[in-house]
Amino acid sequence: MRTPMVAGNWKLNGSRESAVALASEIAASAQDDMTSKVDVVVCPVSVHLGDVSTALNGAAVKLGAQNAGAEEEGAFTGEVSASMLAEYGCEYVIIGHSERRSLFGDTNASCAARHKAVAAAGLTPVFCVGETLDDREAGNTMAVVESQLQAVFDVCGDNGFASAVVAYEPVWAIGTGKTATPEQAQEVHANIRELVAARDPQTASALRILYGGSMKPDNAADLIGKPDIDGGLIGGAALKSADFLAICQAAAAQA
Ligand code: PGA
Repeated sequence: MRTPMVAGNWKLNGSRESAVALASEIAASAQDDMTSKVDVVVCPVSVHLGDVSTALNGAAVKLGAQNAGAEEEGAFTGEVSASMLAEYGCEYVIIGHSERRSLFGDTNASCAARHKAVAAAGLTPVFCVGETLDDREAGNTMAVVESQLQAVFDVCGDNGFASAVVAYEPVWAIGTGKTATPEQAQEVHANIRELVAARDPQTASALRILYGGSMKPDNAADLIGKPDIDGGLIGGAALKSADFLAICQAAAAQA
């Protein structure tokens, strides 16, 4: 049985003060009956991690980061390493988000290298995959997703997702209000699990595959109700504690 996971990707939002306020609200409301059933994770910007960690105040809400470098230390200006994130209590790191890929030049190969570094530091990569609208319309959804996963197999081996989470985020659904239908998402999730199973069946059956892309309180239950959708990576709706917690509740209700 896979424990569902709901992770809030706060992206480049909030001030130090508002990040602390949001974390405090979530920590105060995420009671044991929720966090015993769902892994609830918040991913603020890196400079807010220390304050957010303090604001979580020992609640069972977990901390994640939005990216990590492939290198441990050295002349890599602007990077943050996974072990540095671990010092702040991070357990998860989002890798290969489509905004990193499309705006900041992250490639399949560099994402795989980051993924490897995160896993080596003992943290859990949340490895994002997903197709653009053009890819989907050209019938290339699974070819794109497979090439994104393949990069991790190439760098980390057949069990490269053994201690990882995958997030399927169709690029056309991110921040657009256009959600993949539960059937569209389930189809891709099942295919992802099959691709991983072809390498390592045990990893595949334990692997949590999150859906991301305009998941909201009113569509979360239908999406998470699908057999291969194990939770959500939430952008816009994660910035309002009530919406985020409603999604967490929807996941808890199915656990
Ligand atoms: P969204 O973002 O929920 O605002 O679509 C999801 C994401 O980018 O992870």
